Amino acid sequence: MKIIEIEGGRQLSGTIRISGAKNATVALIPAAILTDEEATICNVPEITDTDVLCDILKLLNVKVNRSTESIVINTKEMQNTIIGEDYSKKLRASYYFMGALLGKYKKAEMYFPGGCSIGARPIDLHLKGFEALGATITTDNDKYIVEAKELKGANIYLDFASVGATINIMLAAVKAKGKTIIDNAAKEPEIVNVATFLNNMGAKIQGAGTSTIKIEGVEHLHKCFHEVIPDRIEAGTYIIIGALCGKPLKIDNVIPEHVDALISKLEELGINLEVGADYVTVLGREEVLNPITVKTAVYPGLATDLQQPLTVLLTQAKGKSKVTETIFENRFMHVPYLNALGSNITVKNQTATIIGPTKLKGAEVGATDLRAGAAMVVAGLLAEGKTKITNAEHILRGYEQIVEKLTAVGAKIRIIEI
Ligand code: UD1
Repeated sequence: MKIIEIEGGRQLSGTIRISGAKNATVALIPAAILTDEEATICNVPEITDTDVLCDILKLLNVKVNRSTESIVINTKEMQNTIIGEDYSKKLRASYYFMGALLGKYKKAEMYFPGGCSIGARPIDLHLKGFEALGATITTDNDKYIVEAKELKGANIYLDFASVGATINIMLAAVKAKGKTIIDNAAKEPEIVNVATFLNNMGAKIQGAGTSTIKIEGVEHLHKCFHEVIPDRIEAGTYIIIGALCGKPLKIDNVIPEHVDALISKLEELGINLEVGADYVTVLGREEVLNPITVKTAVYPGLATDLQQPLTVLLTQAKGKSKVTETIFENRFMHVPYLNALGSNITVKNQTATIIGPTKLKGAEVGATDLRAGAAMVVAGLLAEGKTKITNAEHILRGYEQIVEKLTAVGAKIRIIEI
């Protein structure tokens, strides 16, 4: 097990550079198999989720050439084989191989994906989309065989604007015959990044980033070069850290529009920010922070992935703040640990009520999932004394060089392996 240990209560100043977006990368790597040639993806974050996806590529006999920030993926000798349970369950995004393999070979055989335990996270919308394109689905417990004689464009309405289902259906539809329309599609920036990648390879996708995506099927996808967008969730996490401990802290390589909702909420709280073309600097904060009400929503609303780190900041506002989680059923697992550090938070149904300000004091806590783990890092940096975060592997799945980046701006943080 990996443990992150933090000596908190220090002021942080300097610049943190944001890496490529995890949630775009984990879709771009499976999407790359749709080319019959070679795809180069740069600005790829070195996180464990990327490593697992590269292992899956190797299992499919895809040549993977990885250097510091880029991956060259060559599919010329690729073979469509079953993706075993051990691989499928290592992360959520393994499910993108379902859409990509179906799109390329008209057959995918793999298991129900893994990922953070933040709710039931069914994949019914993905499967409904595949069926609408002409696929049949056979299940045996957690094993799925999705296959089609022919994939034909269809009109698909998503009951919920799911990020995963939108991307997976795009992957399956790019080589289908005729036109596919996805209505109530998710609009997250990562979807635009994946659609741009596919279009760079010769796909014909219009409307990514809006709620209607139109895909005209093509026969062949060619060679391409593509860049991953900056990670808006990593950026948001460091902006929140800056709001708590920054003096000042510049977060560089950000697309500020992608963190608009967070910036508005921070300004409402009383955080002073400078927003530039590609950076956000946390200059300081009002002495007394205002309590606020927060509700997570699909993009461009406040990202559910930032809800847990943001809750830590709200422990420092004067009075009663409320956070309502609307996307996942089980995303308050960080709360008992935060309370162990000294916060006053109660959760009822899907709303957390935070009474502040409270002083946080270091203790031993755990990372139950990726973003809950990030919230523990935020809390540990603020808390007086030593905080130990167990199961830190969850955090390393999504934050590239978190220890190095924070150390460079003055944090006392290290990883211990036991
Ligand atoms: C992705 C992100 C995750 C983020 C989430 C919401 C990746 C790898 N993960 O997760 O970090 O928190 O978007 O922005 O990109 N749902 C169904 N049926 C389905 C699909 C989804 O009921 O077939 C439900 C889910 O259980 C959840 C909601 O829809 O309640 C949103 O899920 P979705 O947008 O699909 O999130 P993920 O793609 O899993």
